[in-house]
Amino acid sequence: MNYTLETINAKTFEGNLIYLYGDETAARDLPLGRKEIEEVRKHRERERDFVLVFDRLPYHLYFVSFDSERQAPDCQERLRCTATRVLRMLITEADADAAITASGTLPEEVAAFVEGLTLADYSFDRYISKTPHHLQNLAIDSLFLKPDELEASRRLWNRIFWCREWVNLPVQDLNAAQFADELSSIAADLEGVSCTVMDLKQIQSLRMGGLLAVNRGSSDEPRFVVLEYNGVKGGRRKASTSPICLVGKGIMFDTGGLNIKPGDYMCEMKSDMAGAATMASVLFAAADNHLPVHLVALLPMTDNRPAANAYAPDDIITMYDGTTVEVVNTDAEGRLILADAIAYAAKNYNPQLIVTAATLTGAAVRAISTFGIAAMQQNADCPMTMLQLVGDQVYERLVQFPMWREYDEMIKSKFADLRNSTMSPQAGTITAGKFLAHFAGEVPFIHLDIAGVAYFTKAQQYYREGASGYGIRLLYAFLQMQEMIEKGKK
Ligand code: BES
Ligand code: ZN
Ligand code: ZN
Repeated sequence: MNYTLETINAKTFEGNLIYLYGDETAARDLPLGRKEIEEVRKHRERERDFVLVFDRLPYHLYFVSFDSERQAPDCQERLRCTATRVLRMLITEADADAAITASGTLPEEVAAFVEGLTLADYSFDRYISKTPHHLQNLAIDSLFLKPDELEASRRLWNRIFWCREWVNLPVQDLNAAQFADELSSIAADLEGVSCTVMDLKQIQSLRMGGLLAVNRGSSDEPRFVVLEYNGVKGGRRKASTSPICLVGKGIMFDTGGLNIKPGDYMCEMKSDMAGAATMASVLFAAADNHLPVHLVALLPMTDNRPAANAYAPDDIITMYDGTTVEVVNTDAEGRLILADAIAYAAKNYNPQLIVTAATLTGAAVRAISTFGIAAMQQNADCPMTMLQLVGDQVYERLVQFPMWREYDEMIKSKFADLRNSTMSPQAGTITAGKFLAHFAGEVPFIHLDIAGVAYFTKAQQYYREGASGYGIRLLYAFLQMQEMIEKGKK
């Protein structure tokens, strides 16, 4: 989608116009005749949230009324959702171009609406012969957005777009090596970003027992990708600021391995690399917009398959940090590849914080459905509170699960230091988080289980069926907040 900023006079504008109308007491210059105003007034007596379409032949006027008295995050989220309805109408009418203006409306409300239009316009259509309609040109009234703000948002949305595209790609067209190549070529074009790709041999010499075990049943090589972006280099602070490490689960496809997934449970497991895609996208977005933060993304990648040589239940593997793990279930593979990456981050980067994003457990979906992230923390009370706060603001929400020490018992093994799954079907999300936390040691650690939100089996909010990119706006807003806190300290 192309965005332009223009001065838009709603009354004289020639083209499809989307008009946002929030607060009638502050509204002026409505592009409506007397009859239409009456229709709007009657509607608003009954409810505040509605969309009316008026014909302005050969164009359309999409009149969007909303309730501006709601709490800001709720109001903005509803606007994103309303934008989705308007987008469907535009597509049905084959309106490829539109303009947005407003009255009685705040700039952040217009921004949320544009964000909703953008996220809703994405569809995974590269394998469809007849390309579906998309909104092509969107003019935005420059009263509501500044050029640099629009540009920063556009870059962030572009990263969300690419994350969704990668997650939607089937493993036949995106295996570990291909994904690593893709990330490294993007990094090569981005100022301040470096990329190291480790192949099978290097992973073997690092002794990443978790990643190697999961990869054994695959005919494709694993990769371990490390992206680094240092936005504070050359700034007033020292270049050696300890980074925030972003660890993402990169299971390119999860069959379950020898504990093969039954029936329909295997469908959509191309999305099991959403954590890695999310973390790479967050780092790229931070670099695009020159956020003054130091980030390292650590992305272990492989698919998980059964084969003659596949790792088996009862195997005991030695992880990167020397911890031994008894494999109880080969379908609990994500924590094995993440554990190596977390331990690697803790040992080599002196991180101020490690954050993981992973489609880790079906139990997370059962606990809170598809409406948020199941989150856990160890030694990171304060960053977690901040993350929750920004999550509520951008409406990518998380709920904190407990990390009581009693859960540790559930992942102890008789024959090794840990086991990769519990024997009971209880607290599956927490015990997975506990397993990961072991490898962070003393380093402040936050784990985000995005199993419920990374990939939707049916459309919700502004997302069509498929990958959402959920978590990118959250982490990006969190990094922006870091910047504000740093400024405040000076
Ligand atoms: N990738 C799955 C988790 C998953 C399930 C993600 C549904 C998205 C939607 C993960 O590797 C897995 O299979 N987890 C098992 C763990 C169990 C064997 C301890 C699960 O959740 O059943
Ligand atoms: Zn699995
Ligand atoms: Zn998995």
